[in-house]
Amino acid sequence: MAMSEFQIARAGDFEGREITLRGWLYNLRESGKIRFPIFRDGSGLMQAVVSKAEVSEAVWQRVGELTQESSVLARGTIHREPRAPGGFELVLRDLEVLQRVPEDDPYPIAPKEHGVDFLLSHRHLWIRSARQSALLRIRHEVVRAIREFFDSRGFFLTDAPILTPAACEGTTTLFGLDYFDLGQAYLTQSGQLYVEATAAALGKVYCFGPTFRAEKSKTRRHLTEFWMVEPEVAFATLDDLMKLGEDLVCHIIERVLQRRRPELEALERDTKRLERIKPPFPRISYDEALKLLHEKGSQLPWGEDLGGADETLLSEHFEKPVIIHRYPTKAKAFYMEPDPARPELALCMDMLAPEGFGEIIGGSQRLSSYELLRQRLREHNLPEEAFGWYLDLRRYGSVPHGGFGLGIERTTAWIAGIPHIRETIPFPRLLYRIYP
Ligand code: 4AD
Ligand code: MG
Repeated sequence: MAMSEFQIARAGDFEGREITLRGWLYNLRESGKIRFPIFRDGSGLMQAVVSKAEVSEAVWQRVGELTQESSVLARGTIHREPRAPGGFELVLRDLEVLQRVPEDDPYPIAPKEHGVDFLLSHRHLWIRSARQSALLRIRHEVVRAIREFFDSRGFFLTDAPILTPAACEGTTTLFGLDYFDLGQAYLTQSGQLYVEATAAALGKVYCFGPTFRAEKSKTRRHLTEFWMVEPEVAFATLDDLMKLGEDLVCHIIERVLQRRRPELEALERDTKRLERIKPPFPRISYDEALKLLHEKGSQLPWGEDLGGADETLLSEHFEKPVIIHRYPTKAKAFYMEPDPARPELALCMDMLAPEGFGEIIGGSQRLSSYELLRQRLREHNLPEEAFGWYLDLRRYGSVPHGGFGLGIERTTAWIAGIPHIRETIPFPRLLYRIYP
């Protein structure tokens, strides 16, 4: 059978035309001599109308016997119907059943409440639900907007390796594995060190791939495998990076609002809050953030990184994402450039999403001095041999440069208004879960 061009999300383009909807039964309602099957095809839901008087007895029967998630080819005509969800409906004429889900082994996810453990164990089926599929379409739009943003600004995509010989963000959070005769290798925590090299080769670059963290965090913001986009820019200053992050986030929000309204509605997202996300975002220093936190009752001593609870406090204080810059050097990774005005601070920034969603971006200017980088490697007990190539970047045409990482799942969770990021990735990897 040829590819059908019909898609529920584009029903408007097919008004008045004969089409074949290829999909699954989502739900079936009946009222006398009319049956209303609701079908899904992955792009959305569509109600069909079947009246006993207008179809053959066989078709009438087949519709009546449809069970949840049975796969079908439904033929008929697309009509405008303002009362139907989506504004269009299918006047059904013929129905072919590809596989009927049997009554004695019904689809396990009935339209009732299930516990989250049950749903996560049935993630391969759960993603078919209206909410979950809406979330995955929003994730897709976030990814697409990110690619558009960088591709239209002269950035080159240069993906970093996933198998790496050394740590980037700290040695305690690595997944290790045996690498033939070469010994221990690790799954990457960040492509940053590699995009620093490609930025010196190509100027403005980004990598976009999966990253892995073996930290034993059991919070709603942590996955052990997540996706991160990491731009890196030669000659960029901290101010440039804050502006780039702000523009990127605004572009993502704009695109999702423009293209994924039905999904945001399905998730009952308050879109007014997203419409307010326009530049400029507030920028405050770590010192200012700490003052604000102390006013709110936090006990965080100067010098420590913000914890999850601190982030939540700050993130609830602002209506827009807030950028916090210049953290104490000792709280951050080894590769950050110190602030020349106050060397105990790093030229770095984190962006916290509002409504309590917390950190979505972390980034910095990178050390450009060869000597200082060697010193930092020693201070952090990192083996210099492993970083020979990274040091070379400071030996041959070192320039000020920097970049950041934006986490796809946390960004999607915020935009979709979903409290736990495990629902924003098709198959989440969590401390206590690797199935399915
Ligand atoms: O702040 P992080 O650890 O920064 C880096 O990895 C830098 N090397 C990036 C760079 O400068 N190129 O992580 C960046 C972002 C966080 O702000 C967050 O959005 C996301 O990655 N992230 C996680 N998302 C889900 N689960 C986790 N365990 C995450 N850890 C970080
Ligand atoms: Mg961070």
